[in-house]
Amino acid sequence: MPAPLKALVGRADDALARALPAEDLAPTELHRAMRYAVLGGGKRLRPLLVYAAGHALGCDGGILDAPASAVEIIHAYSLVHDDLPAMDDDDLRRGRPTCHIVFGEAMAILAGDALQALAFEILATPFGADDDAMARIAMLRTLGAACGAEGMAGGQAFDLSAVGTRLSLDELERMHAYKTGALIRASVRLGALAAGCRDDALLQRLDRYGHAVGLAFQVRDDILDIEGESAVIGKTAGKDAAADKPTFPSIIGLDASKAHLTALVDDALDAIAPLGPRAEWLADLARYSANRGH
Ligand code: IPE
Ligand code: IPE
Ligand code: MG
Ligand code: MG
Ligand code: MG
Repeated sequence: MPAPLKALVGRADDALARALPAEDLAPTELHRAMRYAVLGGGKRLRPLLVYAAGHALGCDGGILDAPASAVEIIHAYSLVHDDLPAMDDDDLRRGRPTCHIVFGEAMAILAGDALQALAFEILATPFGADDDAMARIAMLRTLGAACGAEGMAGGQAFDLSAVGTRLSLDELERMHAYKTGALIRASVRLGALAAGCRDDALLQRLDRYGHAVGLAFQVRDDILDIEGESAVIGKTAGKDAAADKPTFPSIIGLDASKAHLTALVDDALDAIAPLGPRAEWLADLARYSANRGH
């Protein structure tokens, strides 16, 4: 990952550490579980997309920290719930025991609930002197849509009901677009909205980029579940096949999945080509999503 993006990972980590409730504040167990779920690991792809989209539109200011934190906090909550025994029943996440293994199932459920609420609180909080309330409302709506029934949660429902069945390629793409794609697409849009973008054509172009990157990211996740090692990917390898999950490789095969990845990256790069060099970080992140090793 290029150095400017690495530096932005640190910026995201700092913003997240500030946004989360302190561990010594009651209820301490809940606050510890929330901080455990969010801090100390994670590639921070979604915050990076917020920063990269803002940068592409000429904004690098602190106004991006709120949407960057909010979307990562939603993502972290989705992982806590995804790992629960009732869902994927995973005990390893980001190279550490999952939240429910450390804090118990009930506290992990509550940590997820509280993280979700915190994300919206962060976005609803006015930002400094150049606060733009209309932009914040647009961001709240974007995030709500992306994590709800027609976004991440809906995708998780498709995922649960697809276990053991054979999905068509279209159904699989829809599941991925909801489950993982929605939050990734929203990250790009949040960066643009925070940067003050009101240009529908440009927002649509960025949506096309986000859609392709989101799909590529989950296709790569499916491939890593097969080809990755637990110690490298930081979660249990081989879980998808063991749980009979429909994935890209299980439906079209590994080689076709890799070819599909290449096509998705090409489409993402094509979508942002008119933005020129200022979209360089977005281009880096599209390639990274498809080629990452963990
Ligand atoms: C994992 O997401 C779950 C998916 C949506 C595929 P990431 O691979 O972004 O997980 P972290 O945040 O880096 O741990
Ligand atoms: C998780 O997909 C997607 C969300 C958390 C919304 P996976 O179940 O494939 O993610 P991993 O492989 O556990 O990270
Ligand atoms: Mg899952
Ligand atoms: Mg999972
Ligand atoms: Mg997976």
